[in-house]
Amino acid sequence: MNVKEIFDSMSYGPAPESSAEAMAWITRHNGAFGHWIDGAFTKPGASFATSNPATGQVLAQVSQASEAELDAAVKAARRAQPKWAKLPGHARAKILYALARLVQKHARLLAVLETLDNGKPIRESRDIDVPLVARHFYYHAGLAQLLGAEHPDLAPLGVCGAVIPWNFPLLMLAWKVAPALAAGNTVVLKPAEYTPLTALLFAEITREAGLPKGVLNIITGDGDVGAALVNHPDVNKIAFTGSTAVGRKIRQATAGTGKALTLELGGKSPYIVFDDADMDSAVEGLVDAIWFNQGQVCCAGSRLLVQEGIADRFHARLKRRMDGLRIGDPLDKCIDVGAIIDPAQLATITAMVDANAEGETYRAATPLPAGCFYPPTLISGLSAASPLMQEEIFGPVLVSMTFRTPEEAVALANNTRYGLAATVWTENINLALDVAPKLKSGVVWVNATNLFDAAAGFGGVRESGFGREGGWEGLLAYLKPAATAKPLKPVAAFPAPKDPETPGLDRTAKLYIGGKQARPDGGYSQQVWSPKGKLLGHVGTGNRKDIRNAVEAAHAAKGWAKTTAHARAQILYYIAENLSARATEFAARLRDLTGANGASEVEASIQRLFTYAAWADKFDGAVKAVPIRGVALAMNEPCGVIGALCPDDAPLLGLISLMAPAIAMGNTCVLVPSEPFPLAATDLYQVLDTSDLPGGVVNIITGGHAELAKTLAGHMDVDAVWSFSSSDISALVERESAQNLKRTWVNNGLARDWAGAAGEGRAFLRQATEVKTVWVPYGE
Ligand code: NAI
Repeated sequence: MNVKEIFDSMSYGPAPESSAEAMAWITRHNGAFGHWIDGAFTKPGASFATSNPATGQVLAQVSQASEAELDAAVKAARRAQPKWAKLPGHARAKILYALARLVQKHARLLAVLETLDNGKPIRESRDIDVPLVARHFYYHAGLAQLLGAEHPDLAPLGVCGAVIPWNFPLLMLAWKVAPALAAGNTVVLKPAEYTPLTALLFAEITREAGLPKGVLNIITGDGDVGAALVNHPDVNKIAFTGSTAVGRKIRQATAGTGKALTLELGGKSPYIVFDDADMDSAVEGLVDAIWFNQGQVCCAGSRLLVQEGIADRFHARLKRRMDGLRIGDPLDKCIDVGAIIDPAQLATITAMVDANAEGETYRAATPLPAGCFYPPTLISGLSAASPLMQEEIFGPVLVSMTFRTPEEAVALANNTRYGLAATVWTENINLALDVAPKLKSGVVWVNATNLFDAAAGFGGVRESGFGREGGWEGLLAYLKPAATAKPLKPVAAFPAPKDPETPGLDRTAKLYIGGKQARPDGGYSQQVWSPKGKLLGHVGTGNRKDIRNAVEAAHAAKGWAKTTAHARAQILYYIAENLSARATEFAARLRDLTGANGASEVEASIQRLFTYAAWADKFDGAVKAVPIRGVALAMNEPCGVIGALCPDDAPLLGLISLMAPAIAMGNTCVLVPSEPFPLAATDLYQVLDTSDLPGGVVNIITGGHAELAKTLAGHMDVDAVWSFSSSDISALVERESAQNLKRTWVNNGLARDWAGAAGEGRAFLRQATEVKTVWVPYGE
């Protein structure tokens, strides 16, 4: 080829990275690995092969952990944990800092090994994965340094189990290990079976960094090993990234065990291009969004929504760009698209695409090498309900639809059960910042895509999971209150006396739905007796239908989220004022119900309403110091509809303690009041009615906690469920919540001092909000 021809074609010559060092590292281990337990490798046992997806060549044999090996890893982590947690923050910070430095020192080896094991282009592992890993350890060294001073009341959870996927093997390890260690936990991590090698190399590096034995343990194996780790009784938290199907199983398996849980699951993230977008940049962004890592990315911009007027031009430019993508040997520095992780994944992608008969399918013209490769593909003209529009393909396949108006774009974008990420392209900042909060997703990129940083929270809503990774918000998922809670005794209703006096006037409190009093659907009610054997009244027995009606009313009232925080604060003050005006009556009611002095509970309830009125416009988000020219906004958004089983032990204060933070943050709610002492809540209807609270923002359904919890926790349109009931229902709530993977917050049978500091504050506000990270790069 002469120079003129080179300039004409602009084709690149091959520039392969050598695999020699990485292969030499494998050979030093005789091509077979055991597990990393208590600071050393175990002898290789029953093993399976891990291969290079680009060539099919076996790289090494890796061990399938036995139960005894898993147990040894957990024991090592347990032994090491107290000492690790007791180290001053600075000592942990120094080790995390050393890890960051060592990742940089070994960056080339780590990048090559990652590409060999995973098939991703070396350009990505070298320029994205490994630098982000180092950044994560640097950032968390800082958090370890500051944690004690910033959160003196928090303590580590203990032993954390981490189960990670194959698409970003080392990066996902960093996302789990760095915060866990910074917070003083120890870890047992299971890498994905396709990609265990960089985790094992990292384990060796921890020794160089002086990480004490047992603080990080790595066991390899398949999904059964993952399940065994999840089920191990001596693990305090599970942090999982992977498929929604497995996430759901893990939610069910951990229900009621008291294990903390964060799930980062699948997605079908929209990529919205408005007609005023910088089209070349938007096309380039899209290449990154869907062909980065062959589309095997949980937050891949896999659903293109393009404004109708520019759709033809946009698709044409996109196709031209697709034809220029270079597909092939991932170790070649000129390659854009590497290998699919495994023939099984290739078969899944192929089957999904082949099953589609709708729209037009366009495949990149670039020749496809033999082996585990799939061509960059665009399928346009699909309908919103098409399976390919709804299901995660997890491959280099983009599906596309058009829209006319911003409203339609938002509706289409949100027409998914997922909610991980979204991208918006427009030169109109007003439009971008109007659309971003309306998108149901944990991350929004404006005029950019796939930006990640340790300082900025990443994670989803809906069936994309819950919890954030990165930032202080990510660290908090590895901490708990330092104070130990006492077990909560069941609180029973006072029984009817043997020889009850003839009841006077029948007074049956109704339910409260959509701002109106409603008769219970079943037509049943229960008596409520005082400790002295006096009949205080009747209360409606709510059922499934009542819960459904209440959820519907709560949805209809969702405009509440759009009212200003100032307006919400005023209404909370107003509720407090109206309660205060009737304080004597409420105190008497509480005394009648429980026998305790009600005056202090009423006073505490008024104060609590003031607290959250105060917080309504002060629980700010943040602007994250991310390394771009621009900002990453961490916005505290309401969760949506929150269902809450209220405490039995503080019938009025407990309910107010849950209702007030929920509505202060813009949520609507369905509250099930104290089962034995419901009348304090039913008296509240009038207070709410006279306080300008829009109907449906608060709905109250009296009845049995266990029965109502099941419907509430299983309801597909409820976004979060809290349970502070004294009935033993934490397991039930967590298990049922798996249906739509809603967030849960349960007491696990532990008591809380509702009148004290534990009864209010930031912990409640955090539960009432989701952090949405909106990335807005700026400049020409
Ligand atoms: P997966 O969710 O099955 O695997 C992720 C990790 O979980 C692996 O380490 C695996 O060994 C482990 N695991 C499997 N079953 C388990 C169980 N019952 N309990 C505990 N751990 C378990 O994902 P897989 O099979 O690798 O890929 C299947 C599909 O999942 C992909 O096609 C893609 O759609 C999706 N996926 C999504 C990811 C994301 O980041 N959102 C990452 C990987 C896969």
